[in-house]
Amino acid sequence: MQVKAPRGTADILPVNTRKWQHIERVIKEQIEFFGYQEVRTPIFEHTELFLHGVGQGTDIVSKEMYTFNDRSERSLTLRPEGTASCVRAIIEHSVYGGVLPVKWYYTGAMFRYDRPQAGRYRQFHQVGVEAFGSNSPYLDAEIIILMVEILSALGLQAYELHLNSVGCPLCRQSYRQRLIEHIDPVKDKLCPDCQIRYLQNPLRVLDCKVVSCHEAIAGYPVIYDSLCPDCQEHYARVRTALEDNGVKYLHDDQLVRGLDYYTNTAFEIHIPGIGAQSAVGGGGRYNGLVQELGGPNLPGIGFALGMERLLLALDTLGIIGSTQSAIDVFIAVMNDQYESPALKILNQIRRAGIRADKDYTGRSGKAQMKYADRVGAKLVILIGDEEMAQGFLTLRNMQNKEQLRVTDEQLIKTIKQIMATD
Ligand code: HAM
Repeated sequence: MQVKAPRGTADILPVNTRKWQHIERVIKEQIEFFGYQEVRTPIFEHTELFLHGVGQGTDIVSKEMYTFNDRSERSLTLRPEGTASCVRAIIEHSVYGGVLPVKWYYTGAMFRYDRPQAGRYRQFHQVGVEAFGSNSPYLDAEIIILMVEILSALGLQAYELHLNSVGCPLCRQSYRQRLIEHIDPVKDKLCPDCQIRYLQNPLRVLDCKVVSCHEAIAGYPVIYDSLCPDCQEHYARVRTALEDNGVKYLHDDQLVRGLDYYTNTAFEIHIPGIGAQSAVGGGGRYNGLVQELGGPNLPGIGFALGMERLLLALDTLGIIGSTQSAIDVFIAVMNDQYESPALKILNQIRRAGIRADKDYTGRSGKAQMKYADRVGAKLVILIGDEEMAQGFLTLRNMQNKEQLRVTDEQLIKTIKQIMATD
């Protein structure tokens, strides 16, 4: 019997984990510069969290959730995103009672039953940040700046930032009505999904990927014209703050995002040239969500980046190399008898904070040198008859092929010197 990984999931093999670790390191560093602290929430939650948190009218809830009953007949769902879980945790632990704003970040697997394709998986990984307790438009700007700083730090400067305001529940109410009135006469030309959702959530028609839906609703009213004075003011301040900080964006009337909780600022970041799934991240404000899930009236804002899509972008644009060395130093043992002293030296090197390894498969001397080259070792320590008889070690620089003799006492210092000049 041969069992394969489920469709839409992927093994991340060591040849790729180095890239993941690199991306995670760069992202965490940037996030921590901005004062966010890591939170870890469960991978599954009670289903009703997402029904109320993400919204019944969304694709995620209506057709993409991995929902199951546990042995006690409780309905549980593998998290499709991280925001609802953070909000639940904020409420459950009354975190809002402390110092505000609360600035959290998380990384981990999310699950959505969608049609797999390049950049779209059923198990994928996000890095997200959420800030609770402030409605300042400058926090919106800070969050967006953080997202673009992350992309820049990864070498992905060629992004397109789409920005919109989806208003507050008050202005959205009147906008919804105007939009429904615009769509109603052409409803028969919409795709089957939009024909169902336009009454419940007409904004989703703007977001639909089917071209004929866009053609059918041409000339639709834009939300910007329906924003109330407060929402207009908020949006104007976010835009000015971004401009003052040199962040280029595209005002995008069609950007409504696929989750129901958004209010005011909504944004998405795309990397052109990586295929149909070009959104590497998205987010926005969700001022009503904490209250909706049973907490106090606490505003929130955040975003999430998709790890697989960042990796796809780095690979497609040739920004990240495919191989990075696994070790710096390899010990080549030329004779079985010297295995024990070799292991001792290996441990000394590792204790000195240097990544090192040796052979355990009985390879010939020549094959060990080849292997050292393949794993990217910068230095090889040769231990053979001459070395053992005369009490020194041969240190070979794999880049310039120079060899020098060192004593046991000089070894660590010499390795560090050579690596520092690399
Ligand atoms: P989202 O736009 O649904 O937002 O997802 C954020 C990012 O996750 C996307 O831009 C994409 O890079 C990645 N992503 C989503 N679905 C998939 C998939 N099936 N396969 C691979 N990558 C995927 C959220 O999840 C919100 N919780 C973001 C947020 C945080 N809003 C406020 N705070």
